[in-house]
Amino acid sequence: MNPNQIQALKGKQKIVMLTAYDYQIARILEANNVDMILVGDSLGMVFQGNPNTKQVTMEAMLYHTQAVAKGAKTTLITADMPIHSYDTPEEALVNAKRLCQAGAHAVKIEGNQPEVIKLLQKHNISVMGHVGLLPQTAEKYQVQGKTPEQADQIWRDSLELDRLGVFSMVLECVPEWLARKITHDVKTPTIGIGAGKYCDGQVLVITELLGMVSKDHLPKFVKQYTNLDKVIGKAVTEFAHEVRNGKYPDKEHTYH
Ligand code: KIV
Repeated sequence: MNPNQIQALKGKQKIVMLTAYDYQIARILEANNVDMILVGDSLGMVFQGNPNTKQVTMEAMLYHTQAVAKGAKTTLITADMPIHSYDTPEEALVNAKRLCQAGAHAVKIEGNQPEVIKLLQKHNISVMGHVGLLPQTAEKYQVQGKTPEQADQIWRDSLELDRLGVFSMVLECVPEWLARKITHDVKTPTIGIGAGKYCDGQVLVITELLGMVSKDHLPKFVKQYTNLDKVIGKAVTEFAHEVRNGKYPDKEHTYH
């Protein structure tokens, strides 16, 4: 699918997006008909082990985008522009081009950045918006738009992004009523994470969906569809046991 085809799904079919940071996961997502892959800067936390996304560099995003592009040959890949990679429209253009050369078909930018978006689009780079909780600048990870003023600002930002022509926008951690109103008021598809069921699509961080989590406290919206922590732990324990008691490698797994 390309960005236009994603836009055409609004009101017709829910859009499925997941994050991927490597070749193997990208390959599995593509084989299972995910509509869009996001090389999210959440990799700062779930891949690099940092407390937030504020240390993610362009080099890291390029590295992971290249790996994902090798695994997903036909799925639309959007790469996050990391913090400080779009401080000016000119820097944004240079960096967005690098991400596209690495294999991204579109880039995602946090917040309402009209000049950046206009310049990228002028150079035929598709942009995904992102409103609500903005992890690159947020001091605390918490629900946004709880006061009428905050909600109004998020609504205005989403209308502005829509007017600018983003091909979709992430709504992160906002009350369901607000996501519903935005989804109704904008032409472009909304992709929710912690934004309730009325969005045009949903995204989750892949490691959280798979139950690979180091945190005790997960956000309310995270649903773990399996528990890879346990699955991997069991395999590792069995391997260690067999090595220690001489059971592995056996005849079948040895060259003769
Ligand atoms: O970085 C990321 O994974 C994201 C999603 C949470 C939307 O921006």
